[in-house]
Amino acid sequence: MTRLIIASNRLPVKIDKNEDEMQITPSAGGLATGLKSYHKANNSVWIGWPGIIPESDNEARVVTSLLQQEQCLPVFLDEELIANYYDGFSNATLWPLFHYFTEFAEFKEKYWKAYRKVNELFAQAIIDSAGENDQVWVHDYQLLLVPQILREKRPDLTIGFFLHIPFPSYEIIRILPWRKEIIEGLLGADLIGFHTYDYARHFISSVKRLLGHDVEFSQIKLEHRKVFVDVFPMGIDYKKFESLASEIQSKSIKDRSPVHQDIDRFLMSTPNRKLILSIDRLDYTKGIPQRLKAFRLFLRKYPEYIERVSLIMLTVPSRTDVEQYQNLKNEVDVLVGSINGEFGRLNWNPVIYFYRSMPLENLIELYSSADVALLTPLRDGMNLVAKEYVASKVKQKGVLVLSEMAGASKELGEAIAVNPNNIADTADAIYRALTMDHEEGSKAMRAMQKRIRRYDIYKWANEFITSLSGTVDRQSDYHARKVSLPIKNKIFKDFSKADKRVIFLDYDGTLQRFYDNPQAAGPDPELFTILDNLSNVENNCLVLVSGRDRETFNNWFGDRNYTLIAEHGAWIKKTGREWKERKPINSEWKGNILPILESYVDRTPGSFIEEKTYSLVWHYRKADIELGALRALELLHDMSNMLYNQDLEILEGKKVIEIKVSGINKGIAASEFLHENPADFSMAIGDDWTDEFLFKELPESAHTIKVGTENSVAKYYLTNYREVRNFITEIVSGKNR
Ligand code: UDP
Ligand code: G6P
Repeated sequence: MTRLIIASNRLPVKIDKNEDEMQITPSAGGLATGLKSYHKANNSVWIGWPGIIPESDNEARVVTSLLQQEQCLPVFLDEELIANYYDGFSNATLWPLFHYFTEFAEFKEKYWKAYRKVNELFAQAIIDSAGENDQVWVHDYQLLLVPQILREKRPDLTIGFFLHIPFPSYEIIRILPWRKEIIEGLLGADLIGFHTYDYARHFISSVKRLLGHDVEFSQIKLEHRKVFVDVFPMGIDYKKFESLASEIQSKSIKDRSPVHQDIDRFLMSTPNRKLILSIDRLDYTKGIPQRLKAFRLFLRKYPEYIERVSLIMLTVPSRTDVEQYQNLKNEVDVLVGSINGEFGRLNWNPVIYFYRSMPLENLIELYSSADVALLTPLRDGMNLVAKEYVASKVKQKGVLVLSEMAGASKELGEAIAVNPNNIADTADAIYRALTMDHEEGSKAMRAMQKRIRRYDIYKWANEFITSLSGTVDRQSDYHARKVSLPIKNKIFKDFSKADKRVIFLDYDGTLQRFYDNPQAAGPDPELFTILDNLSNVENNCLVLVSGRDRETFNNWFGDRNYTLIAEHGAWIKKTGREWKERKPINSEWKGNILPILESYVDRTPGSFIEEKTYSLVWHYRKADIELGALRALELLHDMSNMLYNQDLEILEGKKVIEIKVSGINKGIAASEFLHENPADFSMAIGDDWTDEFLFKELPESAHTIKVGTENSVAKYYLTNYREVRNFITEIVSGKNR
């Protein structure tokens, strides 16, 4: 049975040393709090950093055995790694950059080196405990390189990755000096999950722009496999919050916890008193100063609320060794002091400020007592606190004010949405929340509850894992038609025993790689050797079939012993003969089409037109990848309207659109050739759409091979031009043996 191994920097628990005693406490932060219920309920192992540097081997053993009880395994890090990997690359480079705080991001080589090293340590720890074919689920921005390292060392594992923070736009990620390594690291996974569609979209755009991979319906096509990208908005353990909240509320006042009794006393001391709650790690992404300013403005604008409302602000200490966090702490201390100084009374403070963490029981007491939750991050991958507040409102009495920059806002559409940078608007939102009609409030709450109750943490994790398991089958579809050893042997055998052979080979993308400038893609000496060897085998007839213009093809191959078919079959040059036109030319149509293509060139920098005897070709390989694809769609649309009832057709190739006289294609030309030159072995290899005609027209007995993994009528596929070259070399050497 396969087992699940979870890996994240932060474990669900952390170990502290208190007067020589090791203590185990729950970790804060969405990843750990969210995933731990699922982990507990499953037989998974969780690998991570325990938050302590052991002072001796014995201490390390104690930590390891404490963690064992929690199904956890430690990765120990020394002080230097923590400074450079955790405080450094993770929290002073990636965290600010991915949350759009570019001005805070530090790019230091020593941070990067430590990050790589720790990612290797984590990968090794996973490998050490992974059995054959186990599933690994790697989490978050601290471990972006782990999937790739695992893929190289243990290709048997199924690897999932989930990012808990935003994935920023390409314009941000491109700033990072190690942007390619980071994306390549992630592409080691089989499945990559994000909280929202926006993050997935940004990731895919960066993959296309930085690495040039093709993407089809959220599947990234690498040479040998696909990477699946999908959206899984993380949920919470809904039932746990709901039942604990019900339990707490049903307790009589005297049985309540001291914190809860304090809250009750506070609320009852003045009639109609209200409580606003905010809970977050003390992090600059959470918008805490902006929130305080909005609350101050609210009190100035609506002074009737003085002494009638307080903001309980629970801020959990976080990453305290990072400078920006220390600065933020000072800023928040000053702001809280100034607001309490401005509005406070002897027996009332507008802001009740905690800088510490609280046990779950107290969090739920706060959630269920607060009239309003004010959660206004400037950027937040998800924000589970918002969902926990909603789940704890068992009587639907409470209003959520939520930043539209939090991932959770996509699911909690009934909350009062605010742009946290708009202080005036946030102040008014507080007023609206406090004065909201009870009916309206409970209706909104009920709708949100319904949604997040259904898609809870178990559903979230199960859907991810089911989808991850599914990638194994989907990958195997992908490999089904690959030219494997048995297929190769069969083709070689047919080749050897045949008396007469015709081999059709496309050129660009099949025998040669693509170049931005098509004229630069001429044949190299290695290719000539391979093709000469092939055509020199007795009773072989080698036919190069291309969309290329005949002049270029003639310059490259005119003196060789091959048959050449150019311009998609419009022209043919048999070995030792002159070029022959297969259909009389009528070029009038070009006058109408050319100006349209020129307008596309003007509006798509980097694209250009190529004119051939029978066709006009618009090339957009050098254009911006997304603009090129968009314009190509537009052009196809324009052309399909225009070409109606004309003797023209459109061919869509790899980063080219060709408008050509119809009735001419590689398939018709090849089958005519075969008719004149019958053979008992025929084979065709080609990489793009125009080669599909070739595969379709050849007799059933032909061996047809597509280069690349897109859908094709070809029987088999090879991955790239290098594999084609090797394959041809092997055929020839097998024959000569
Ligand atoms: N939390 C906690 N102790 C506290 C305050 C908060 O464990 O004293 C938890 C809270 O219940 C929530 C998590 O920390 O589950 C914060 O997750 P969120 O997604 O809101 O933000 P993150 O910290 O991950 O950025
Ligand atoms: C966010 C991150 C988590 C991290 C948590 C707490 O939720 O996505 O990966 O664990 O913050 O931060 P910390 O640095 O204490 O682990």
